Amino acid sequence: MSLERLLEQDFISVTEAAAIASAQTMGLGDRKHADRVAVEAMRTTLAEIDIAGRVVIGEGERDQAPMLFVGEEVGRLAGDENADRAVDIAVDPLEGTNLCANGAPGAVAVLAASERGGLLHAPDTYMEKIVVGPTARGAVHLDAPVAENLRNIARSFKRDVTDLTVVVLERERHQQLIHDIREAGARIRLITDGDLGAGIAAAVRGTGVHAVMGTGGAPEGVITAAAMRCLGGEIQARLVALANENETDAEQRERLGSLGFTDLDRIYRTEDLAKGEQIVFSSTGVTDGELLRGVRFFGGGARTSTLFMSMSRRTIRFVDTIHREDPTTPVLFK
Ligand code: FBP
Repeated sequence: MSLERLLEQDFISVTEAAAIASAQTMGLGDRKHADRVAVEAMRTTLAEIDIAGRVVIGEGERDQAPMLFVGEEVGRLAGDENADRAVDIAVDPLEGTNLCANGAPGAVAVLAASERGGLLHAPDTYMEKIVVGPTARGAVHLDAPVAENLRNIARSFKRDVTDLTVVVLERERHQQLIHDIREAGARIRLITDGDLGAGIAAAVRGTGVHAVMGTGGAPEGVITAAAMRCLGGEIQARLVALANENETDAEQRERLGSLGFTDLDRIYRTEDLAKGEQIVFSSTGVTDGELLRGVRFFGGGARTSTLFMSMSRRTIRFVDTIHREDPTTPVLFK
């Protein structure tokens, strides 16, 4: 039986637990707290699973992150390298911490996993990205002018550029990009956070999203790639040293170099970021979003909505789960 099949229910329960924990903090205005409870719940649930898991994308380096730090061994078989359930794990226990803290749409709990070595151990820096779904796969290039990419995406969809919607993170650094998209004639949806969820939406027809462009988190880029492997979409990305609240550009560049990422011109393709052959992806809605409903609490329980995908089994499941504290609680149809 494949790794993916064995772990399906387990991984779903991991993102469900993180989503429920963080959803309880929705709107409290404390994004760090929201993230912390998601991390704790995810780690507790991972510890109960029969895997020898190794975190390759997590909450950061060991000394800064007490839990789910990069390199941490997780699961009941932790440390047993001979286990046939040795998996690499990429987690984003709460993607969209601000969204959750503000009760805004689009926060999700996410986990991707693969056989050992199947997910790039990307540093916690930024990536310039372009994401498209299966319809426009092969039609874009990260270095092509924005207008050319949009023309090619439009051609793939057999429509005009004016009928496309591109999602862009609303950031100062994207002024030129936004200008170029507008000039090319496409519509734009600016989002405050959550380019991972936007990338998934771009790979699902009917969401009204045709591409995601711009610079966002590198860890999110790897997890997006895992999702694209399952959905048949495409991401192209390049590491960028960009100042954040903790580091200057130069400090990021130095850190990238010390981790062996010296070629900052390199374009990473979907298969470079997530090359595994047994990739699974699970995402549970925290707040309502494009594809997933947020956690709904009722007296004595909660209801969650999860997207679970398995690459080699070619399955995509939308899992609707009712979690009951009290088994006598009546179940509602909707
Ligand atoms: P968090 O959940 O860690 O807050 O990240 C949200 C996010 O918007 C990502 O979706 C995106 O890739 C990244 O932050 C962008 O980073 P920044 O906010 O520094 O521009």
